[in-house]
Amino acid sequence: TLLHEELSGDEVLVVSNREPYLHTRTRNGIEVQRPASGLITAVEPVMRACSGTWIAHGSGSADKESVDRNDRVAVPPSNPSYTLRRVWLTKEEEQGYYYGFANEGLWPLCHIAHVRPVFRSTDWEQYEAVNQRFADAVVREARTDDPVVLVQDYHFALLPRMVREQLPKATIITFWHIPWPNSESFGICPWREELLDGLLGSTILGFHTPFHCKNFLETVDRYLETRIEHESGTISFGGKLTQVEQYPISIAWPDGDANMPTVAECRSSVRAEHGMSHDHLLAVGVDRLDYTKGIIERFQAVERMLELHPNLIGRFSMIQIAAPTRSSLDEYQNFEARVRALVQRINNRFGNGNYLPIILKAEHHGSDQVTRYYRAAEVCMVTSLHDGMNLVAKEFIASRYDDRGVLVLSQFTGAARELPEALVVNPYHIEQSADALYRAVTMPEIEQCERMRSMRSLVKDFNIYRWAGRMLLDAARVRQRERVVTKIR
Ligand code: G6P
Repeated sequence: TLLHEELSGDEVLVVSNREPYLHTRTRNGIEVQRPASGLITAVEPVMRACSGTWIAHGSGSADKESVDRNDRVAVPPSNPSYTLRRVWLTKEEEQGYYYGFANEGLWPLCHIAHVRPVFRSTDWEQYEAVNQRFADAVVREARTDDPVVLVQDYHFALLPRMVREQLPKATIITFWHIPWPNSESFGICPWREELLDGLLGSTILGFHTPFHCKNFLETVDRYLETRIEHESGTISFGGKLTQVEQYPISIAWPDGDANMPTVAECRSSVRAEHGMSHDHLLAVGVDRLDYTKGIIERFQAVERMLELHPNLIGRFSMIQIAAPTRSSLDEYQNFEARVRALVQRINNRFGNGNYLPIILKAEHHGSDQVTRYYRAAEVCMVTSLHDGMNLVAKEFIASRYDDRGVLVLSQFTGAARELPEALVVNPYHIEQSADALYRAVTMPEIEQCERMRSMRSLVKDFNIYRWAGRMLLDAARVRQRERVVTKIR
């Protein structure tokens, strides 16, 4: 395949916090689930294609019990094609590094959602310690002295430098899956210099959009003594180069989903399950229950649309799939309570015993179940207040082989740059989203078809293998150059 050519036999190691499979103990034994994570959706098919070793935090409930604690397992369970190496964290490590510094500090720091980041010294200490533990795991797993290490996301800003110190010849490609804020916002982090220094241990540092790259270069310019070539995106720091580049992430294009129910089957079965008539209009939302996703604003837009177009009351519903996430944090508990209260208020206002305008399904759904809803719906609403890329938008498009369905898409997602054929909205502007939703449910088929075809051709071409392929190709060029330069010297 494409990726094999680009790798030309190089060893690949991936590091991410989230593991691609969650093993949970249920009454029927151990069940394997795919976690709700854009990162996993994107990186897993790449790993299947190029084998190698994936190092992640062992987090499933079954795994925590020592009987099932295998450090190394071959995955996917159905068709093993690469190795999953799990790092086990203590309660304190998980609390400080994952819940604390990563998700109460960096997550709100990088997303403009008006939630204040919290920075504690104790969290920072755990973040450093856990980054070191994962860096040591990379070094232990590596069979060669110059592997390609793919570092994923904001959980591991310090790890590139730590690996570089122990494996100077490694090619380290770091991808930051969330937005990078402007230098002033980033500057409120008490450990900004340390984070930047850590990331500059990377050979290549990738973001989704040119805007995030520019923000990163400006942040480095402001807080570190470096030489930057803005034109080419290269940063020279301590005699080493880091290439900053945009790689918009994507999904694997579904080729053989012949086993999946058709659009017609999904339409009728989903409606029947919910006691709806066959011509009931449906919008779908699929998110983690996260405050960055604009779920409240989305429901307010539904409410406004029903206010403006009362003929849709009883004829339109929104099904919201909301995977629970980070739920031990106060911010997420408060958010969930606000979402539930709003759903109840809107449902009381417009609904009755037989009709609910908003159906909230706050539980984990597997990808086949999600595809069913994508296919059943007239509209998919993605209204993130801020989002690196947002792969729900691309998954919806990929599921609509019938060229029908309308995507309403927040302008604050990376995806909006690639998909202007969507109905692009500012989620803070409730009137505008309500109008777009109405336009979507009333859009003539011919217009749906034109927009959908064009979006499908883009997502099909710029799929996840392209994303990985471009990064690996750039890495191969750097490796080649380094070999030549070493020889000349
Ligand atoms: C975002 C992050 C990922 C993360 C995912 C789910 O997409 O960029 O790194 O895996 O959210 O969050 P969780 O904390 O459950 O892994």
